[in-house]
Amino acid sequence: MKPVIVSGLKPSGELHIGNYLGMLKQAVELQDSNKYRCFYFIADYHALTQRYNPKEKSEEIYRMAVDALAMGLDPKKSVIFIQSHVTEHANLTWILNTITPVGKLQGMIEYKEKLSEGQAPNTGLLDYPVLMAADILLYKAEFVPVGEDQRQHIELTREIARTFNDRFGGTFKEPKAVHTKSLRIMSLDNPLKKMSKSIPAGCLYLADSPKTIREKIKRAVTDSLTTIDYDPEKRPAISNLVLIYSEFSALSISKVVKNFKGIEYGKFKDDLADLIIKTLKPFQERRAKLIKNKQLVMKTLAEGDKSATLVAQKTMKEVAKKVGLI
Ligand code: TYM
Repeated sequence: MKPVIVSGLKPSGELHIGNYLGMLKQAVELQDSNKYRCFYFIADYHALTQRYNPKEKSEEIYRMAVDALAMGLDPKKSVIFIQSHVTEHANLTWILNTITPVGKLQGMIEYKEKLSEGQAPNTGLLDYPVLMAADILLYKAEFVPVGEDQRQHIELTREIARTFNDRFGGTFKEPKAVHTKSLRIMSLDNPLKKMSKSIPAGCLYLADSPKTIREKIKRAVTDSLTTIDYDPEKRPAISNLVLIYSEFSALSISKVVKNFKGIEYGKFKDDLADLIIKTLKPFQERRAKLIKNKQLVMKTLAEGDKSATLVAQKTMKEVAKKVGLI
């Protein structure tokens, strides 16, 4: 049996290059390597933990599924599905809730961040990491491709798996997070903050037009020095742009720095914008076609839901028996 990979995308806002470089790019590479059994899903239940408009949410869920497919997640190679369509995600969450201390959840970084941003602490928000653990453990995943911001959630998933196995007998694997070198793409308007759907001003979206991409890169903050260099501690803004260039060009960071030696910020930014526009073009073309073909997209997702459900039901049966349900 091939090792299992699981990862999800939360449909709150549009996908940006942080999602692409931190997760999607490697999710597609792992899928294409043919070495793993990949499960990728749209984490719609997770998206309900923040205030939203139901009509807009349905659109967002659909668009995110289209984007994931257009980016190269391939239903012939991976199981691609909608989280809420596989009801076992919620069922397993309940069981895992009963072995997860509340204090652990109250101490999670993302939860505390959301509260400090003024979000109401609904129970779903507190329980968010347990639902994530259920997402991963249902498929007995060994690897989870994610950005650095999800590291603590994967750690907690490992702890929950261990606790379950200790109490009820060996059932789950302890999954490992797998990161790219773009662990953390920073915001274009503030290099000390992560690029995040919750700060749209600093995001470069995958669906941005060439004109918008050029404008956003032009406006991206740099620093008062003039050289192109990579030193995330001392020069976070230019280092972030160099990292983005390196990832989009597949050149090493040192090669990018070398190629732009003595070249001014304006020219570097122009080249970076060209590179991003060129790389995203095929995605944007596929997206434009797919978005109009709702029937095909929904059929593809329904097939994914079915395949995921078969695996999820098997695990859930095993879990129910182990915890003493009849
Ligand atoms: P989400 O939708 O916020 O982000 C999707 C993926 O993109 C990564 N990411 C980044 N990587 C680098 N730099 C950034 N600035 C950046 N911003 C986002 C995230 O780390 C993530 O991998 N809770 C998850 C969704 C989820 C999930 C799961 C993931 C639900 N269940 C189970 C893995 C396994 C989330 O909100 O991701």
